[in-house]
Amino acid sequence: MTKANLSLNGTDYEFNVIVGSEGEVGVDFSTLRKTANAIAYDPAFGNTGSCSSEITFINGEKGILRYRGYAIEDLAENATFEEVMYLLVKGELPTADELKSFKGQLAEHAQIPDALIKQYQALPDGLHPMAALSSIMVSLSGYYPTTGNDDEDIVRLLAKMKAFVALGYRESKGEAFVQSKNGANYIADFVEMMFGKTTPALEQAFDQLLILHADHEQNCSASTVRMVGSSQANLYASIAAGVNALWGPLHGGANQKVIEMLEMIQNDDGDASKYLDKAKDKSDAFRLMGFGHRVYKNFDPRAKIIKVAADEVLDDLGIDDDETLDIAKALEKAALEDPYFKDRKLYPNVDFYSGIIYRALGIPTGMFTVMFALGRLPGWIAQWKEWREEPKSRIHRPRQIYTGATERKVPPITER
Ligand code: ACO
Repeated sequence: MTKANLSLNGTDYEFNVIVGSEGEVGVDFSTLRKTANAIAYDPAFGNTGSCSSEITFINGEKGILRYRGYAIEDLAENATFEEVMYLLVKGELPTADELKSFKGQLAEHAQIPDALIKQYQALPDGLHPMAALSSIMVSLSGYYPTTGNDDEDIVRLLAKMKAFVALGYRESKGEAFVQSKNGANYIADFVEMMFGKTTPALEQAFDQLLILHADHEQNCSASTVRMVGSSQANLYASIAAGVNALWGPLHGGANQKVIEMLEMIQNDDGDASKYLDKAKDKSDAFRLMGFGHRVYKNFDPRAKIIKVAADEVLDDLGIDDDETLDIAKALEKAALEDPYFKDRKLYPNVDFYSGIIYRALGIPTGMFTVMFALGRLPGWIAQWKEWREEPKSRIHRPRQIYTGATERKVPPITER
């Protein structure tokens, strides 16, 4: 095994080098504090591997995303979301028999109790749907105490999540909720619960959207799920934490912010270049939402697929003249040609286009991130499960470099 050497205050230390199955190199600093009485300082964890994982591989420079070895392009083209859920959570694509049995289990658990519907409806008016979703998630621990059989708990949550999303959508439109009727066909059932009818084009769009969002290795929300799970909080509490982490505008909340930004530009004077300048101005907090990514530095492979899907959905809906969409296209073109964005390798991410699709489908902006959460659920669960099944798992507990005052005495109040 290759070693890495570190010289600290005149002493040399040696650390193991670990190499992943795709050749990624890491220095194993797990003994750093014990041997060298120092910690690895890496705010925002841009250089820190918090675990080894067999779930998702990303190469940000080359724009590669694979779930369990399968390219996202291949899965989006040749698999269904049900198969991808199974793949992420169980580790392999299902055989025909396994898929049949999985669909049967999804059907069995697809309905939600009336009490939960009433609980959702009792939440304050105007509460953001992500807050509502997280509160419903954590409440599930009361309705379905964990059984000790993770597989049973997991399939129940996978099956019910789409009902909570449809409930949130229906509530936000002031429409009555309709229970699952066709739980064995996940996507068709979901589309019907949302819109009261389904079409092949709608099913294909949702299938792709959910597959593209299904996992993204150790991002903010997945790391949160692992972090909370590491305290042995139950599945529902861990997933609720993931929902909250996803909500932020720098993460999943960006899809809502993209449309709000486009509408703001439209309501101003439609001049995208003014907002491009604002985004480049360091004294202005404004950022171009839907642009940039911590990991992807050439293109976001999901954005490539979803851009085509967005065109298809708009075509299918007969939308060829839309001012917001025109602004999006102008902004995208200008940013891709602008040295500021080129130098910093800032490209449209998946959220730039997903918001455009959701808006075209008449989904309220507050629901956009909830749609993302529906797609991301199997990824969160796979990450949670992988942590649970790792024999050496310990509670997550980062260290810090303390920079506050050194010890001092409390002075009498008259001397402060
Ligand atoms: N608009 C303008 N400038 C930007 C943007 C943006 N959207 N994103 C990054 N930059 C600039 C930064 O100001 C910084 O410039 P500097 O080097 O001159 O200081 C440089 O690009 C690097 O940016 P960081 O913030 O260091 O990049 P980081 O990896 O921390 O952030 C993030 C990534 C959060 C996605 C960021 O690009 C961003 O805020 N984007 C907008 C929000 C968004 O779309 N989020 C969705 C991400 S995808 C997802 O979660 C599914």
